[in-house]
Amino acid sequence: MPGSEPVQRGRLTAHPLFYPFAESPSSMPSESHPRPGSSPAVHQPVMLREVLRGLDLEPGLVVVDGTVGAGGHSQHVLPRIAPGGKLIGTDRDPMMLEHARATLEGVKSDSDFELCQGSYALLPEFLERLSLDHVDRVLLDLGLSSDQLADENRGFSFNATGPLDLRFDPTAGKPASEWLNEWTEEELIDILETWGEEKFSRPIARELITARNRRPIETADQLVDIVLAAVPGKVTRDARKHPATRVFQALRIAVNEELRQLEIMLNEVLPRFLCTDGLAVIITFHSLEDRMVKNAFRDSEIWTNLTSKPIEPTTVEQKVNPRSRSAKIRIGRRNAAIETGLET
Ligand SMILES: C[S@@+](CC[C@H](N)C(=O)[O-])C[C@H]1O[C@@H](n2cnc3c(N)ncnc32)[C@H](O)[C@@H]1O
Repeated sequence: MPGSEPVQRGRLTAHPLFYPFAESPSSMPSESHPRPGSSPAVHQPVMLREVLRGLDLEPGLVVVDGTVGAGGHSQHVLPRIAPGGKLIGTDRDPMMLEHARATLEGVKSDSDFELCQGSYALLPEFLERLSLDHVDRVLLDLGLSSDQLADENRGFSFNATGPLDLRFDPTAGKPASEWLNEWTEEELIDILETWGEEKFSRPIARELITARNRRPIETADQLVDIVLAAVPGKVTRDARKHPATRVFQALRIAVNEELRQLEIMLNEVLPRFLCTDGLAVIITFHSLEDRMVKNAFRDSEIWTNLTSKPIEPTTVEQKVNPRSRSAKIRIGRRNAAIETGLET
């Protein structure tokens, strides 16, 4: 691997955020976009037009979709990098990669794609396997897909009566139910406060301990009942979000070490493998992730921050796809040859 200097690729062009009609609006997908492949996936890609504009694609580029999911964004990337482009899609979830394959195989395009199972933070290994040492664009659409949410056996939904798993990759590590029966009260409080910013962390942790002493915690609906028993009734009645939202978020982040993966990506992988003038487009769904991305793009001389304010979904999209409501896009452009101190 050639030192820490990013490779210069492509022309230095004006970013379409500043020239918003560089790609004509008619060539952009509308707010409802059918999936061309045979995937039965239900997930609707979030802020698709804004993502495509942010990626500023052209033929021949190497693009990484680090959270390829059902391929909702990637299916629109493939034709825009043809001919000669290559898309690398990674996902921790083998089920989502099957959806992605079905979707992408249905796209008629003279560009290549590769799907890799594992965290986007393992990109260096995937690139080595593909004999690539730099990429031109990276997209991350963090969090979980509607397909995972809809799967009764994953435990992501408050209404699920199946096992409380919460892993993106159900073949690795331990399910949330096992962790929940092992963590101490102090550890539970810490997890709920740090990763859920949960105001009622103490009573919820106490109730979890009491409940698991009666019988092991195994399902998502059991966890919901425990949270509802722990938070004051007024909070439950007035809540705009389900009172268990932050608890599920905290546990999911803990079980999957989500913020650690993002930290590795922002601080180690992107500075080393994104080429000069390469773009990173990152969609976040909660303030912890958004803060990390904002600080990375704003505070490091490696980046030019292209979004001093994040891009948010239109009111139309929020109505059509309620999952998009909390989404924020931030975009960073990799600056030229800055010493990263990272040796390869
Ligand atoms: C919001 S969905 C992506 C949806 C996709 N953009 C689409 O439109 O179909 C997020 C996906 O990221 C995956 N994921 C979460 N954390 C990951 C990580 N660290 N590395 C790779 N994939 C991850 C999840 O399994 C899920 O499939």
